[in-house]
Amino acid sequence: MKIELNENKVFFNNGKSVQEIHPFWLRERVDGEEFLDKGTQQRLFDPSTMDGKIIIKNAQIKNGYLEINFNDGVNSKIEINKLEIEFSNKDDISKSIKKIKWDSALDNVKKFKYKDNFFESKEMYDLLVSFYKYGFVIIKNVPTENNFIVKFANSIGSVRRTNFGEHFNVKSKSNPNDLAYTTLHLSPHTDNPYRNPVPCIQLLHCIENEVNGGLSTLVDGYTVTENLKIENPEYYKILSEIKVRFKFIDKSVVLEDWSELIHLDENRKFKQVRFSPRLDYVPMLEKNKLDLYYKARKRLSDLYNSEKNRIEFKLSPKDLMMMDNYRVLHGRTKFDPSEGKRFLQGCYIDFDSTEGKLRHLKRKFKI
Ligand SMILES: [Fe+2]
Repeated sequence: MKIELNENKVFFNNGKSVQEIHPFWLRERVDGEEFLDKGTQQRLFDPSTMDGKIIIKNAQIKNGYLEINFNDGVNSKIEINKLEIEFSNKDDISKSIKKIKWDSALDNVKKFKYKDNFFESKEMYDLLVSFYKYGFVIIKNVPTENNFIVKFANSIGSVRRTNFGEHFNVKSKSNPNDLAYTTLHLSPHTDNPYRNPVPCIQLLHCIENEVNGGLSTLVDGYTVTENLKIENPEYYKILSEIKVRFKFIDKSVVLEDWSELIHLDENRKFKQVRFSPRLDYVPMLEKNKLDLYYKARKRLSDLYNSEKNRIEFKLSPKDLMMMDNYRVLHGRTKFDPSEGKRFLQGCYIDFDSTEGKLRHLKRKFKI
């Protein structure tokens, strides 16, 4: 990639093609002290109010800088490195980390250990990279007093509050408003599929665990859907096309949102799964179409529930698990409350928290 000049025009050469950079695009990026606040990196002028008739009167490249005189009297030195980064979209930090597919054979995923200054450490950077690779991460030794989970979440970014509160306590209780608060087996699901937007990441912190059952289960929705795409493209297609209604009701709120069970991005690539079969309602469609839909959902459910795709483990006190709620399904085996206490605390954060932290640590450690 290279910035080139020709008769006061600036060109970007990516090795395959050469294209002229619009003069106004460069004018928007002038970064002298009177144009850009150095602390916040925010503009001190408003380009949306300027007309676009900007011409470059003179341009030259010197010592890694593009020096430009514009026809409105503004002169600027723009770092060529910065321009090249913008062209290569290197800023898309989480997408640059390749997802690793996994199933029950998953072994040796690094567990992290909480310590002082954890959130500003290189360890935290490694943790976030591992989180984006696998869709979950486990941190040992996280203090359990005073709802520390909230402090933990707010030290990465900001807690995403829901109708379950800033954080929620997972203990069995009478008159539960969600099956999570029972002792029953919970099959793999994603949380809050009825919210818009769906909370991105769930944190689950084990405070006490004296029972033999109640194992945590995880399934990689990414692996399952990528496998389904190969195994049965027709099923994959219908599940990524039909939007279903997810609904949650309690005394004070009615939440509802529509989505495909397999949600793809604008390039038809994996973006999100939602799966919570006690809450989903498919619209009334043509009988043949629904026939196919039900077969496809059954197959998807079988894959999510199969032992081959599931990992199972017991969370110990002070273990904190972070799960990508757009990718990983979670569940729990049943347990007997007469064996002792089982107490977990949970909360949510969104992807802007983890991405913001990852960019910050990358900058800090010059990675
Ligand atoms: Fe859940």
